[in-house]
Amino acid sequence: MGHQVKEIPTKPYDGQKPGTSGLRKRVKVFQLENYTENFIQAILDSIKAEGATLVIGGDGRYFSPETVQTILKIGSANGVKRFIVGKDSILSTPAASNVIRKYKADGGILLTASHNPGGPNNDFGIKYNVSNGGPAPENVTNKIYEATKTIQRYKVIEADPVDLSEIGETTYGPSQVQIIDSVKDYVELLQEIFDFPLIEDFLHKNAHSFRVLFDGLHGVTGPYARAILVEKLGLPEGAVQNCVPLPDFGGGHPDPNLTYAHSLVEVVDENNIQFGAASDGDGDRNMIYGKDAFVTPSDSVAIIADWAEVIPYFKKGGVKGLARSMPTSKAIDLVAKKKGLEHFEVPTGWKFFGNLMDAGRLSICGEESFGTGSDHIREKDGLWAIVAWLNILAAANKESPNKLIGIKELLNKHYSVYGRSFFSRYDYEEVSSEGANKLVTLLNEAIKTSSLNNTTHHSKSTGQDYKIGSVTSFSYKDPIDGSVSSNQGQIILFDDGSRVVFRLSGTGSAGATVRMYIERYVAPEAGEKELNRDTAEGLKGLIEVALRITKLQEFLERDEPTVIT
Ligand code: G6P
Ligand code: ZN
Repeated sequence: MGHQVKEIPTKPYDGQKPGTSGLRKRVKVFQLENYTENFIQAILDSIKAEGATLVIGGDGRYFSPETVQTILKIGSANGVKRFIVGKDSILSTPAASNVIRKYKADGGILLTASHNPGGPNNDFGIKYNVSNGGPAPENVTNKIYEATKTIQRYKVIEADPVDLSEIGETTYGPSQVQIIDSVKDYVELLQEIFDFPLIEDFLHKNAHSFRVLFDGLHGVTGPYARAILVEKLGLPEGAVQNCVPLPDFGGGHPDPNLTYAHSLVEVVDENNIQFGAASDGDGDRNMIYGKDAFVTPSDSVAIIADWAEVIPYFKKGGVKGLARSMPTSKAIDLVAKKKGLEHFEVPTGWKFFGNLMDAGRLSICGEESFGTGSDHIREKDGLWAIVAWLNILAAANKESPNKLIGIKELLNKHYSVYGRSFFSRYDYEEVSSEGANKLVTLLNEAIKTSSLNNTTHHSKSTGQDYKIGSVTSFSYKDPIDGSVSSNQGQIILFDDGSRVVFRLSGTGSAGATVRMYIERYVAPEAGEKELNRDTAEGLKGLIEVALRITKLQEFLERDEPTVIT
């Protein structure tokens, strides 16, 4: 049966270079004539499309259903044999990673701009993942970019749109399209990983003293969270909110941090809820926030690593190694050292963990940017982290049945053994590139001339003295493929082990965004009072000194950061 393939002439667009997480632009840009078509054809020109199986899904944001139909038309014309599509074009990023792996697909096209706002006047994104379920490495994204620069035509078949709301299999031109339940495979995966009976029992017995609230922020995780927390773990309907995915996320900014997830923070504070959690638009980020306790992502991954053996997946398979991105606090390193595990420090970006996982050297990892995950898939995983916390709390309470252990108690217990890495991030969003360059230049000079080494800086507000050991620029050599990534951030290291790191964001859309990461370690011997201080208080002196040394406020013309996390 011949299906006519039509070739449509087109011209290249500038700037279709995939960033850290695919191509992200305003919806209006993707709607330009042939813009989306060009990029999809460029992806297919850069992979072996003939005979391939591709997964398609995304966070359900505005412009997703149309784009799925475009991918089907172009994909089929390019010889894709089979498409596995999430119902209603929905698959969270972790669910898509799982589906690619589970069904042994050759890759996947994810329609998401993560935590960026959605809707006709906001952002859309297209991201390509490879057969291990992880984001395409740079050699693939470079190929795609090159293809966008010379594209002259794209291919389509003539076919009626596929009904994305009907689960099942249909023939589509020369291809097969399978619409799958977006949630089912993912729920099965988490059930294999965690001790659901233990969690359910704990939640049931402590229904009044340990209340749970999950906020989907109208992103993609709502249906997943409902299926897991309400249907499988027996929590009441009131334990989830904002769980209907909306194409514009209800007008919100679906990013789980204290600033943007205020719908969660307000209800947790008002109702004294013991365990609150949220995830971002596409479901790969997470925040854990309870009554009087916020868990920094750096502490979160360290605690999950410390308690790994109560999680059946790790009990069975063992923990191979631990890792964090460079700016993430060193809390997880201390766990690795105590347990005798190999640990890695990689540049910012989840893709750096994939090689280590594929080589069997990494099990649990995390980033300060609210990303936590493991080698069960090749993306970070918001709900995985949230259920990991519930599993750990259930186990901790089984060990100590007489006094309820909540988030705060677990944190304090951790600090009393390992000490505490006070950690905070200051974001200076959309500053002038000129100002940002001045800051980078000042630090590069200090690196080149060692002029700041061995200088001591006094904090007037706290009376502390901070002596600089070194100033360095971070580069990473991948231990598996030997590739080198340089200039991944500048580090001022103090001789008490404190660090201040500076990086330019790789995900911003206008101007430059400077991030300053501040970390100060306090050993367990300092005692409870020091360990339990408020973060801002614990870091006050160090921040004062770092701002003065770098002249940051002067260069960036900002007295205050835009966001503090
Ligand atoms: C995305 C990536 C993360 C990374 C973050 C960094 O979310 O998936 O792995 O940590 O971007 O963003 P930045 O704006 O700091 O470059
Ligand atoms: Zn995301």
